[in-house]
Amino acid sequence: MAFVPYDRPVRAAFIGLGRIYDLNVRGYLDNPDVEVVAIVDPSEERRVQRQADWPDAAAFASAAELAASGIEVDAAEVLLPIPLHPDGVTEMLGYGWHINLQKPFCNDLHDAQRMIDAARASDRVLRVMENYLFYEPLRRLKATAESGGLGAIAGYHMKMVGSGSGGWDVPWSSFEWQIKQMALGRGILVFDDGWHKLSTALWLFGPIREVRAWIGVTSFGSGIDLDAPTVISWEHENGVRGSWDITLAPDLYLRSDYYTNDERWEITGTRGFARVNRCTGRGIQQPALEVYADGEMRGYHALDDDWASSFRDSGRHWLRYLRTGEGPLLWTGEQAVDVLRFALAAYASSAKGGIGVDPAEVTG
Ligand SMILES: NC(=O)c1ccc[n+]([C@@H]2O[C@H](COP(=O)([O-])OP(=O)(O)OC[C@H]3O[C@@H](n4cnc5c(N)ncnc54)[C@H](O)[C@@H]3O)[C@@H](O)[C@H]2O)c1
Repeated sequence: MAFVPYDRPVRAAFIGLGRIYDLNVRGYLDNPDVEVVAIVDPSEERRVQRQADWPDAAAFASAAELAASGIEVDAAEVLLPIPLHPDGVTEMLGYGWHINLQKPFCNDLHDAQRMIDAARASDRVLRVMENYLFYEPLRRLKATAESGGLGAIAGYHMKMVGSGSGGWDVPWSSFEWQIKQMALGRGILVFDDGWHKLSTALWLFGPIREVRAWIGVTSFGSGIDLDAPTVISWEHENGVRGSWDITLAPDLYLRSDYYTNDERWEITGTRGFARVNRCTGRGIQQPALEVYADGEMRGYHALDDDWASSFRDSGRHWLRYLRTGEGPLLWTGEQAVDVLRFALAAYASSAKGGIGVDPAEVTG
């Protein structure tokens, strides 16, 4: 793709102004790299609410109306419900817009390829944003592992507890499309939020050659099936093994400014370990990163451990990319396919009783 960086602020449009707009917008506010020219959502209530952030932007009910308006758009910040990603992204690439898409990319490999092909055909950049890779405690965790201070990496695990109490309000309309995703076997814990955990695994230790999974279900009625208890294990091509457990604790109150996920990452080396204690919520109120080696524990108390900052930095990174061409994109469409294959391998393994599945071999 012959991408030429812009020598002026990028003209951007927000497509979808729902819950996660509140965090994605942080990369755009007070950012000289961008001029927000339009906001799009079929909900008038949302348009009116978000217009307050961008009084000079034009507001539309659909991307098609924006495209027909004559307003010049360079890039779209796409915050659509997952089921709308494939058609929406393909449509917007057709308008000649670069795309910064929320995760998960899509539900299957066919739709992923369709979007990648559309980006190639229109010679536009397609990014599938991954804000966790911009969360400072996780960046320091990766740097710690790569520094050799823990010795050789012996293994690692991730933990996630989904709770139903605390955090910010999520509108019922957001749950409606999530329930449709559940019915398709793309649950909110393993696939939607889990996308981030699988991303961090690939980012930390590279390609994966085998996945083994035991994906459970807890039903709350009316189609609300949560995909836990779940355990997923894998081996990277470099031999490092990882595992991730997902547990439901519906009545557990979790203090959080955002969603109620209690999360941790812990890497063990031959000489020590490093642990990120929290991310989205405020679970363990210790330093966000702790590193133990040679009989001493070091706590990192001054990291930017507000989860929202990862959205700010991911958004700024994208807009800088468009201005300078400086990557890496984190992620490209092809890298997002690696995350998708990881998830699909977990589903395939679980369906076959937990046997090892190579993500490169999955279809569908
Ligand atoms: N990175 C993260 O941690 C994170 C967290 C939450 C959600 N997300 C992702 O962000 C995306 C949006 O999630 P959300 O929670 O904001 O959903 P939401 O349901 O709150 O908001 C979606 C918005 O899109 C609007 N919309 C629907 N059809 C549209 C169309 N054709 N054109 C324009 N707008 C349209 C809806 O009216 C709604 O306002 C999803 O892909 C989701 O997986 C990511």
